[in-house]
Amino acid sequence: MTRTLDIPTSTRPPRMPGIPYLTDNVNMLNDPLRYLVQGYRELGPVFRVCMGFTEYTVLAGLEANLFLQREAEQYLTSETLFGGMARQLNTDMLLTVLDGEPHRHMRKLMRPGFSRSAIGPHIDKVIGIVREYAESLKPGDEIAVFDSMRRLICNAIGLITTGIKPGDRYQDVLTFLSGAMNVEVVKVWPRVLLSRPSWKQAKANMFALGKEILELHRTDPPREGGRTPDMIDDLMAAVRPDGGPFTEDDLIAFAVGPYIAGIDTLSSTLAFFVYTIAKHPAVYARAKAEVDALFDAGMPDLNDFRKLEFLHAAAIETLRRYPATPFTPRTVKHPFTFAGYDFAVGTEVMFANGVTHLLDEYYPDPLTFDPERHLTGEAPPPGVFAPYTLGPHTCLGAGMAEGLMLITMAGLLRYTAFELPNPDYTVKIRTMPLPNPGQSFRVKVVNTPA
Ligand code: HEM
Repeated sequence: MTRTLDIPTSTRPPRMPGIPYLTDNVNMLNDPLRYLVQGYRELGPVFRVCMGFTEYTVLAGLEANLFLQREAEQYLTSETLFGGMARQLNTDMLLTVLDGEPHRHMRKLMRPGFSRSAIGPHIDKVIGIVREYAESLKPGDEIAVFDSMRRLICNAIGLITTGIKPGDRYQDVLTFLSGAMNVEVVKVWPRVLLSRPSWKQAKANMFALGKEILELHRTDPPREGGRTPDMIDDLMAAVRPDGGPFTEDDLIAFAVGPYIAGIDTLSSTLAFFVYTIAKHPAVYARAKAEVDALFDAGMPDLNDFRKLEFLHAAAIETLRRYPATPFTPRTVKHPFTFAGYDFAVGTEVMFANGVTHLLDEYYPDPLTFDPERHLTGEAPPPGVFAPYTLGPHTCLGAGMAEGLMLITMAGLLRYTAFELPNPDYTVKIRTMPLPNPGQSFRVKVVNTPA
């Protein structure tokens, strides 16, 4: 079964120039989206880059995004990408490795638990997490933004999806996540790092957290006036795609899965959001006024956050300008032809879904951060805006992510005040394994309300 989009040629796609491996890895580690846009402009929609020791054929531009959206199920698999993570979790039920009907079955089961409305029953507590954090800050404090966002998000996601805030155990989750993502998924770290006692201990502690979550759900079932049902309750009451019961390992993987899917993606995005707000004082002032008007009318519920139109536009603009997942690795499972190049079974491909975000045919002056572009009522063609990637594996938590972006930023604007230590500071993107503003990105607290 071969698909042809253009006249096939037998030539191999061009490589990015420079020293093999070194130039690619340095650029992919620093600002992968800038490098992929450069490749698209200089070499066209298909070219080769290395990440770690793997060579990928990149497919970039709107046609590539649409191919991913429409054809992924038929021609591509993500088993190679996420299979190692599934093995670490002793399950074959990880959403990211499933395809076809079993994948649809599991997505349907998990959709309510990962939706925006799943925040609803916990809205006061989620605002409380941000408020408590903001009020712990003193004027003059410098905040390490990325780490702070990771801690906030870990607690918020844990609470919403499983009813438990991991608290200090968030460090174990992060240690597991960082090793498993860099070794098993993007494969840029050597496997020997997973033999370190500290990583094995973190993994054991994370599994213990998973067991504790299951125990809570078994001993304290949802009831009127008590615990509200969440995704774990939904999954415990459901069956595998083959009709059999989920194993205990499947359930533990579901209990810790939200951290794996949500922490790095959302905390990188939120850290960029803090940067874009702090970097643009006019945006800060307008967003702050909007948030104050909302909170002055009384403690908002989940739907009230929809009134934050400008803050929402700023969040969308952050996702456009600084997408935390600007590329999507896949493996070819059936041959196809794209833009004149043949793709054989087994080829490692990378869909550069973020490249369209920085093309001036879709977003004039694309490097400029401008929330206004999302308030005009005009949207770019479908497939251009793709911060959650496209196709059957598009982010299931996108609604929850955008809800948490708004709540967290609104809470920070309401309960504290911050600025860049130096107004001329320009973000330096780091990738580990996803692009983020780096550990060194800080903002200064300038005043906290009495
Ligand atoms: C701004 C924040 C986020 C971004 C940019 C993002 C991005 C993505 C991307 C690109 C994928 C596809 C990965 C692939 O197939 O290679 C994905 C999948 C997924 N995300 Fe997110 N994500 C975010 C937040 C979240 C949150 C907060 C959750 C839930 C707690 C979540 C849950 C999921 C799930 C369950 C999948 C698997 C979907 C599937 O394989 O069918 N995400 N996300």
